[in-house]
Amino acid sequence: MKIIRNPKIFQRLMDRLRRRGKTIGFVPTMGALHEGHLSLVRRARKENRVAIVSIFVNPLQFGPKEDFRRYPRNLSRDRALLRREKVDYLFAPPAGSLYSAGYQTLVEVAGLSRVLCGKFRPGHFWGVATVVAKLFNLAKPHRVYFGAKDYQQAVIIQRMARDLDFDVEVKVLPTVRDRDGLALSSRNAYLLPSERQRALAIPHSLAWAKIEVQGGNRNLRLLRTGVLRRLRSELDRVDYVEFMEPDTLQPIKKIPSPQPSPPRRGRGKGEGVVLLAVAGWAGKTRLIDNAIITP
Ligand code: PAJ
Repeated sequence: MKIIRNPKIFQRLMDRLRRRGKTIGFVPTMGALHEGHLSLVRRARKENRVAIVSIFVNPLQFGPKEDFRRYPRNLSRDRALLRREKVDYLFAPPAGSLYSAGYQTLVEVAGLSRVLCGKFRPGHFWGVATVVAKLFNLAKPHRVYFGAKDYQQAVIIQRMARDLDFDVEVKVLPTVRDRDGLALSSRNAYLLPSERQRALAIPHSLAWAKIEVQGGNRNLRLLRTGVLRRLRSELDRVDYVEFMEPDTLQPIKKIPSPQPSPPRRGRGKGEGVVLLAVAGWAGKTRLIDNAIITP
């Protein structure tokens, strides 16, 4: 595995690979890698001639009071993990190298960035969309891999790629969880054992809602308060509990009726399913999770 730090050198190298007809699969990350990241890496490895990972803790997507400085960084461990996965190139630019003095440009995916986490982390998704656009321009990948764990982020990147004509296929892969159901996240490292235990209310409440909907509960108000009550009994704060259309991230007015299975031809990807997205705090750690529910 080759490690590249200089953006221009990385870009030239990727250009050359693309010109030579090699398919490039790319996984952008902020490091502190876990099995969730590695599931994306393995898929990129499998589906492409060249597998690339980036590690960059992007200052632009952290708010002034957020955890940019204490975000876990462990490049030597990450490097060893990626080597084991037979990644070809690791792009790890130094902190300052992607935003030179006088940097001014932001990418905003207007509507999708303003809901869910966008309401609680102003500017966060501009930072994400901007750095991902820059990484796409540097890596020129054929396929990129994102996790459904950060569902809103994945939808925003898909929208951005379409809107700005990036010649790339955006793939979204399922959330990887610990055995007890907690979604893997680099931020789980912040959790005290007692906080981690309380955080299990998140997967538990998602599982509860899924069973309710699939058992025929169509009462959105009751479902929402049921999830909220379960979260509030364990977490220190709940930012949101939202039932939404998975493609548009618009609130749904009612739970759709069950669709005949197998799905009819011509049915849209997100049609007939519901996204339940939640965010809350265990101590000083903000956690997010979601479930796609098929009634
Ligand atoms: P990071 O949090 O490091 O996540 C990198 C990728 O791994 C994202 O696509 C994320 O959704 C995915 N991921 C994280 N936890 C996962 C899990 N438990 N299961 C499956 N996939 C998981 O997301 C970012 O970094 C940044 O915002 C980034 C896109 C790199 C831009 O800076």
